[in-house]
Amino acid sequence: MSQETINKSTLRWQCITIMLVLSPLTTMSHHHPYTFPTTNSTVLPSPYTFFSPKLTPPLPTNSFFQNFVLEKGDQPEYIHPYLIKSRNSSLSISYPSLFSNSSIIYQRFKRDLTISVLNNSKKRAHVISSYDDLSVTLDIQGGLRFLLVRGSPFLTCEVLNKVVLSISTIRVIVGFVPNSAKTKYKISLSNGQTWVLYASSAIELSHGVNRIVSGEFRGVIRIAVLGSGLGFESVLDRFSTCYPVSGLAVFSEPFRVKYKWEKKGWGDLLMLANPLHIKLIDDSSVSKVNGFKYGSIDGELVGVVGDSWVLKTDPVPITWHSIKGVREKAYPQIVRALVQDVKDLNARTIETNSSYFFGKLVARAARLALIAEEVDYPNVIPKIKKYLKETIEPWLDGTFGSNGFLYEETWGGLVTKQGSNSSTLDFGFGVYNDHHFHIGYFLYGIAVLTKIDPVWGRKYRPQAYSLMLDFMTLDKGSNLKYTRLRCFDLWKLHSWASGLTEFPNGRNQESTSEAVNAYYSAALMGLAYGDTHLVTLGSLLTAMEIHASQTWWHVKEDDTKYGKDFTRENRVVGILWSIKRDSGLWFAPPEWREARTGIQVLPLLPITEVLFSDVTFAKQLVEWTLPAFKRKGGVGEGWKGFVYALQGIYDNKAALQKIRSLTGHDDGNSLSNLLWWIFSRGSCEDGGGRRC
Ligand SMILES: *[C@@H]1O[C@H](CO)[C@@H](O)[C@H](O)[C@H]1NC(C)=O
Ligand SMILES: *[C@@H]1O[C@H](CO)[C@@H](O)[C@H](O)[C@H]1NC(C)=O
Ligand SMILES: *[C@@H]1O[C@H](CO)[C@@H](O)[C@H](O)[C@H]1NC(C)=O
Ligand SMILES: *[C@@H]1O[C@H](CO)[C@@H](O)[C@H](O)[C@H]1NC(C)=O
Ligand SMILES: *[C@@H]1O[C@H](CO)[C@@H](O)[C@H](O)[C@H]1NC(C)=O
Ligand SMILES: *[C@@H]1O[C@H](CO)[C@@H](O)[C@H](O)[C@H]1NC(C)=O
Repeated sequence: MSQETINKSTLRWQCITIMLVLSPLTTMSHHHPYTFPTTNSTVLPSPYTFFSPKLTPPLPTNSFFQNFVLEKGDQPEYIHPYLIKSRNSSLSISYPSLFSNSSIIYQRFKRDLTISVLNNSKKRAHVISSYDDLSVTLDIQGGLRFLLVRGSPFLTCEVLNKVVLSISTIRVIVGFVPNSAKTKYKISLSNGQTWVLYASSAIELSHGVNRIVSGEFRGVIRIAVLGSGLGFESVLDRFSTCYPVSGLAVFSEPFRVKYKWEKKGWGDLLMLANPLHIKLIDDSSVSKVNGFKYGSIDGELVGVVGDSWVLKTDPVPITWHSIKGVREKAYPQIVRALVQDVKDLNARTIETNSSYFFGKLVARAARLALIAEEVDYPNVIPKIKKYLKETIEPWLDGTFGSNGFLYEETWGGLVTKQGSNSSTLDFGFGVYNDHHFHIGYFLYGIAVLTKIDPVWGRKYRPQAYSLMLDFMTLDKGSNLKYTRLRCFDLWKLHSWASGLTEFPNGRNQESTSEAVNAYYSAALMGLAYGDTHLVTLGSLLTAMEIHASQTWWHVKEDDTKYGKDFTRENRVVGILWSIKRDSGLWFAPPEWREARTGIQVLPLLPITEVLFSDVTFAKQLVEWTLPAFKRKGGVGEGWKGFVYALQGIYDNKAALQKIRSLTGHDDGNSLSNLLWWIFSRGSCEDGGGRRC
């Protein structure tokens, strides 16, 4: 192929990317995805301890309310701005204080107020009677229905039966002021907090030292903590009459998410926006309430009026090849590495049977094919194609042997063979941990193989779609095989990895770059199959996951979101939990900065350029990481490679030298890939990038 052909074909792909991305996102077409053989898992809990029996599988497995349906259901969840816990037929609300030092940040749950039906002797578990993208409804014995809508400054409870309410506190009640109509009470506690309770009709409340008891009441009560801003109380008063019942995220246009809340009562709806919402929100769709703010581990939550918001993000380039192109002078160097890397590919010598590590090997090889296209060296592609077929097919055909994908019906989703009777093998894939990470790598391999061998792609399309739909189903319904967007949190706008394991700190995610890889790879698969819906959805989720990483994982030196000490000592969060920030990793202590940085970079791809588009931050992160290389005992060569790759963004020559001196690479990386990255960095002025 001549140079010009490559140029043209690369550019053509970019045009196709843009055309596809501009098509509207309506219902995903499913093309009859394949159903992997069914298994009965021996390690999954029953959902029906807590889910109403009318809610049938598929059911959510990585959701913002997951703790409410696991084990005893009594661990907290963060329904911003409050932590909520439910147990023994009561619900407790906490407006949490923040603990922060140089290594962790977390919010403390305290039972500020606990609400139940008085003298209810039947202590039963709560029931989840409905849920959607932005809310969960939790019913408590005796007729209390809590409408837990994310970002509502009010906790809303529909009291469905005429009952006597009990509201207790671990504090001492130091102030208690009703209005004349007895529809509003201001309750001051010994910790300095004042809570305001609004009732839809007069409610008779009397209090002791730490308990409030009502007269018989049926109707709606709403509770909010009073902030300190000027006019705060009058804002609460004004918006107390309109309450959200549920909320959906609608995907009707490319690179847009629209929130729509269903509301009851009268007046306008007041909700809170997190810092990422504020960055993306279309101001013409809403109005902000000056000075109305709540504190949060995620940054300030600010009042926004409107029952429909539009969130907009700039398009991200979903390209097979580097965005700016590879410097031609470097082709021979890259080709030399490529020839060696391809020579070493041998499907028969793979030792791992782990869905994670195996997927990484598949994706690593697939990258080699795309690099070969970019540097105009197609000779190696047939061997890579063979390797990809030999590695991917057994997982899609079910002939791998010691492992493979299976479908389980209890929650509705894929598990691995090893994971169907182990909650720890395959990093907990069998309990819905890390699905987007593992499957993302396979999708990358499938996308590339389909690109270079469309006939193969057509043959395996049903299986490929089944893998993708496991974590990227958009529709909802019991007729579907998979829950809606298994990992992606539509309010935080990033994914959770942690599946069906109870955690006192809520869901968590470690590697944002592997999450980005998952949605990016799905978008590439959409390109390979000419599926505009998939490209559009994959691009949107890629863009959002990148925004969220940059907002909450990447800690810039001048960031003010986190505590001073934490910001001084950390350039990147290790594990991000819904109510905690850790500097440690699942697999390494905080001192292993190279691992903490590396796990937020791998796999190294064209989209990595967008994830680390802030060059100043890339430099800060590298300079923070490098001292760890001198640690006693040394640092893995694989991790070093990712740090040098980041260095290559702003100091290309030095990074190249260091990369050349590496004696090994991460199992998902290669010298070819590192050289490809280095020679596709930089501006036209300093000789980087080919298409200047
Ligand atoms: C799973 O269990 C159900 C109910 O016991 C049974 O009908 C079904 O055959 C089992 N499926 C497999 C694959 O073992
Ligand atoms: C909840 O109820 C159980 C059983 O009645 C009891 O053992 C437990 O102490 C209760 N927990 C709380 C916090 O009240
Ligand atoms: C931060 O606080 C945690 C929890 O109290 C503690 O375990 C840890 O040692 C503290 N870290 C530092 C660096 O002080
Ligand atoms: C609730 O129980 C307490 C004793 O535990 C009793 O004194 C009180 O009268 C009861 N109240 C109602 C409304 O039944
Ligand atoms: C998977 O590989 C591990 C490690 O090589 C091995 O111990 C295990 O037996 C294998 N599992 C199966 C089911 O073959
Ligand atoms: C798990 O299943 C595999 C076969 O799928 C079987 O070989 C193994 O003994 C099982 N392990 C347990 C603990 O049941």
